[in-house]
Amino acid sequence: MIALFDSGVGGLSVFKELVKIAPDEDYIYYSDNANCPYGEKPVGEIRERALRISGLLIGKGADIVVVACNTATAAAIDFLRKKFTIPFIGMEPAIKPAALESESKIIGVLATAGTFKGELYKNTSVKYAKGVTVIERVGKGLVELVENGRTGYDEAAAAVKECVGPMTEMGADRIVLGCTHYPFLEEVIKKCAPNAKIINPAPAVAKHTLEVLQAGRRDKNAERRKTGSLTLISSGDNSVLIRMAKAIWDGPVHVESDIQ
Ligand code: DGL
Repeated sequence: MIALFDSGVGGLSVFKELVKIAPDEDYIYYSDNANCPYGEKPVGEIRERALRISGLLIGKGADIVVVACNTATAAAIDFLRKKFTIPFIGMEPAIKPAALESESKIIGVLATAGTFKGELYKNTSVKYAKGVTVIERVGKGLVELVENGRTGYDEAAAAVKECVGPMTEMGADRIVLGCTHYPFLEEVIKKCAPNAKIINPAPAVAKHTLEVLQAGRRDKNAERRKTGSLTLISSGDNSVLIRMAKAIWDGPVHVESDIQ
């Protein structure tokens, strides 16, 4: 079973890509929306949540956990890998493809404050963005818009323009989505930055997850006990989560609550 978790519905952008390439797997998705957003939270607090959620998902039979949140990856992925023995997949800031492909050598990165502060982001930009101007912007208010299902142009354009405006003005031709919530605003971002190509790391993360899962099964000669199921768990109100998951997943959905 593939488990994913995020501060809210954002990780569904990774789930969506997984379903495209592995539609008959069993999935369990945890939305920690009672504690959303993670973006400005102290690292220790995010680690505690990540530890609890991962323990719960593993207790329910997860073979692999996707930390489908850039902020939680930055705060907790090394910590989780030390605590548990099953594989953990994190979100990679897609600076490398953006920097390599960019013709203007100016790229924009949209992420949370927590992601920008993390070692993973710093190391990736030092390694791959040499000779490239990187315009970093915190996507202020964007997570909240997605959590409330307000992803239409009229509702989201003002907040999106505020973040991507400086990128387009400076000539960025690539915009990296460094938060898993942002792909749900991709159409709005495209309209606000028509000359930039949007880079979403979710398809690459999904592909990598499946490769790691399959390699693990080969190593253990493990039987696949797949039925193509989806369980959704949330720590808060689950109405938007269910609606968005059902737009991705055709089969039956089992819903649980983890309200503390
Ligand atoms: N989806 C998260 C991320 O990728 C969430 C951000 C937040 O909760 O602030 O960073």
